[in-house]
Amino acid sequence: MTDRELINAALAASEKSYSPYSGFKVGAALLCADGSVYQGCNVECAAFGDTVCAEKTAITKAISEGKRRFTMLAVAAQSDTYCMPCGSCRQFIAEFAHDIEILSARSDGRYVSYKLRQLLPYSFDLGEKPLDE
Ligand code: THU
Repeated sequence: MTDRELINAALAASEKSYSPYSGFKVGAALLCADGSVYQGCNVECAAFGDTVCAEKTAITKAISEGKRRFTMLAVAAQSDTYCMPCGSCRQFIAEFAHDIEILSARSDGRYVSYKLRQLLPYSFDLGEKPLDE
């Protein structure tokens, strides 16, 4: 799985975005250590605080299918800005993937790459491995 393929999977997921309030369509694609990929989109709610981000959708799908080890996460919005994970998503990602690589893409496919540790240094989490491993 190349960076480009994972970003294309995130962009494809953004097509499924339910975002009638913001109009900001976000997709995510999570690459698992076993090579499988879980996609997610943002799902908004009239009670705005109940909105779920694309990254959380993808991670929740993977966890609920029994996956625990993740290699890379691509995030893409249908926007001309790089879509960076919000603070809450950074914390959620850190719960399961302490130092995963994050690809943040624009709608034209250009992207920037970071380690989660760069985006959320000194995070409050379980450390290198989840407790059940
Ligand atoms: N959004 C995401 O899906 N991921 C992020 O990391 C940032 C924000 C969504 C939430 C909301 O539906 C829309 O983008 C505007 O904030």
